[in-house]
Amino acid sequence: MDPKDDQRFLASLLNTLKMKRGNAEFCSRLGNRFSTLRSLFFRLYGHRNDFLYWYTELIRILHRSYLKRSPELKIIDRAREMNPGWLLNEGLVSYTLYVDRFAGNLVGLCSKIPYFKELGANLIHLMPLLRCPPMDNDGGYAVSDYRAVQSSLGTMQDLRSFSSHLRKNQRLLQLDLVVNHTSDQHEWARRARKGEREYQDMYFTFDGRSNPDRFEESLPEVFPLSAPGNFTYISQIDKWVMTVFHNYQWDLNYTNPRVFLEMLQNLFFLADQGADVLRLDAIPYLWKRIGTNSRNQAEAHWICQLFHACIRVVCPGVSLVAEAVVEPREVVRYFGERESAGAECDMAYHVLYMVLLWDALATGKNSVFLRSLSSLPKLPANVTWLTYLRCHDDIGLGYDDADLRGLGIDPALHRRFIVDFYSGRYPGSYASGRIFMENSRTGDARISGTAASLVGLEKAILANDTGAVHDSVHRLLLLYGLVMSFGGLPVVYAGDEVGYCNDYSQLENNKEQEDNRWIHRPEIDWDKISRRNLSGTIEERIYRGMKNMITVRKATKEFSFHAHRRFIDAGDPHVLCFVRSFHEQRTMVLANLSNSSRKIDPLILYWGGLTGKIQDRLGSHPLCREGEVYVLPPYGLYWLARV
Ligand code: GLC
Repeated sequence: MDPKDDQRFLASLLNTLKMKRGNAEFCSRLGNRFSTLRSLFFRLYGHRNDFLYWYTELIRILHRSYLKRSPELKIIDRAREMNPGWLLNEGLVSYTLYVDRFAGNLVGLCSKIPYFKELGANLIHLMPLLRCPPMDNDGGYAVSDYRAVQSSLGTMQDLRSFSSHLRKNQRLLQLDLVVNHTSDQHEWARRARKGEREYQDMYFTFDGRSNPDRFEESLPEVFPLSAPGNFTYISQIDKWVMTVFHNYQWDLNYTNPRVFLEMLQNLFFLADQGADVLRLDAIPYLWKRIGTNSRNQAEAHWICQLFHACIRVVCPGVSLVAEAVVEPREVVRYFGERESAGAECDMAYHVLYMVLLWDALATGKNSVFLRSLSSLPKLPANVTWLTYLRCHDDIGLGYDDADLRGLGIDPALHRRFIVDFYSGRYPGSYASGRIFMENSRTGDARISGTAASLVGLEKAILANDTGAVHDSVHRLLLLYGLVMSFGGLPVVYAGDEVGYCNDYSQLENNKEQEDNRWIHRPEIDWDKISRRNLSGTIEERIYRGMKNMITVRKATKEFSFHAHRRFIDAGDPHVLCFVRSFHEQRTMVLANLSNSSRKIDPLILYWGGLTGKIQDRLGSHPLCREGEVYVLPPYGLYWLARV
């Protein structure tokens, strides 16, 4: 489209809209983003004869969705528009849970708000809760209706009521938007199976194996054991459908503009239920191209940019989280280029940091950690990481191989060591995880297990070994302490705050035995949670430590994402040390990654800019001076600051 036509189109559109009252805000936001919207939409769909039709449709949808947004949410939108860095502050802590496993249903969940308050969690992430088939649903990631809540969890009205309760209690809501695929039970898939061409075009459907075979040459498998191959034969229509995840998760075809517009409306719909943050599931997969691995394609980024720009017009208070489990440098690209028109997501899971925490614990050393982080590109302004230790998924060892090689480490051997260590196969390992999706062809393997089981609590309890329990509690708090202080919005995975171990009974119910991710999705038992109040129990020790860290984090300006971070060489490969600073305030994070006491030169405080009388803001271990050195106990963690 000629830019002049573009301007004429905008002018006539704005004139029509302006005639109606209450449109000034929409017109001004649309005016600001118009050229971005046009150029992105044109890049994706400009080659089509019906481009103008779809483009007009896009603008209509934006306008309609803006008008539909409630006055209450519009007030929040305006406040956040004025304060684009609102997610970066030290006061936010996220908590991820499954509604059914945590509280039965949404009504029950409302009664748990006091618990979130007590712990200090204020961004509540509900795992997928939209309607999906009872069996083949990949933990809710195979949605059959984006406008209905799974009936066992409640209704859309219950969801709105929960989000409104959260708002009244100054808490935020995060929901998932499964953008890459639908369940094969979604209406579009049903109609596609009935032979309706229009709906077959919402997915990748092929006659014969020719194109599927060409794709397969370079498409990796996500679930090689439970879902080998990337295409599923649908006998009713004698066609092959692309199914990159499970065979019941049909990949959406974003080359069709209708798919984008439908998903955009689903996004606005969830935003209108009161979601403050939307997690875009599996976004690297959004665009497929023969001859590539169909991940991180340029078009996938344009789609994210388009989602972002549309949100800025309709509901700018809503933020996007990238769930991009890809190479570290590729993850960073999902933030987009903020200064130009290319903004994408406002947050992304810091997959690399998560892996590095587990690496540092298994090796007891800081080298891979420091090297890998130093080669990560800088982030643009006003975006932040979600820092986390565990989530509902497996742990995939997505280091950059070049970083490992740079340290003289063989990447394959190193990964093998980490997998053996956390699965407990490595001699003397304290961990009791499970290997997930071991691929004998590629050698790839991932790890399942709760944080507590991976740090040794499960084995320690079984062995009734008080010393081992003590160590595992400290390992868990050490890792969570690094999650809370590094910079980013920390996530607590439900159950970790009281040390939930693996739940193997989940495997018995699970027809896909290979999907052992279920062992770390435990059902929360509130009797166990109530043991947090019983002095001396394991639950109480972990909970007290976690709650303390959350409280201190929130009172520490230098833990905000804006604040500066500088690594300090403590002269010992087993010790990790960095200083966070904000104006004159400084906190030094000092961590002993190993199982032995470490001696540290007191000058380290001076190098970190800390002088005068120093205190440990966590107060968990005294900082002991023995003659000329400080002695850090095994797995000791300190947040040191001037008194
Ligand atoms: C994401 C989810 C994961 C799911 C996959 C397919 O990676 O986190 O649990 O299996 O997407 O939807």
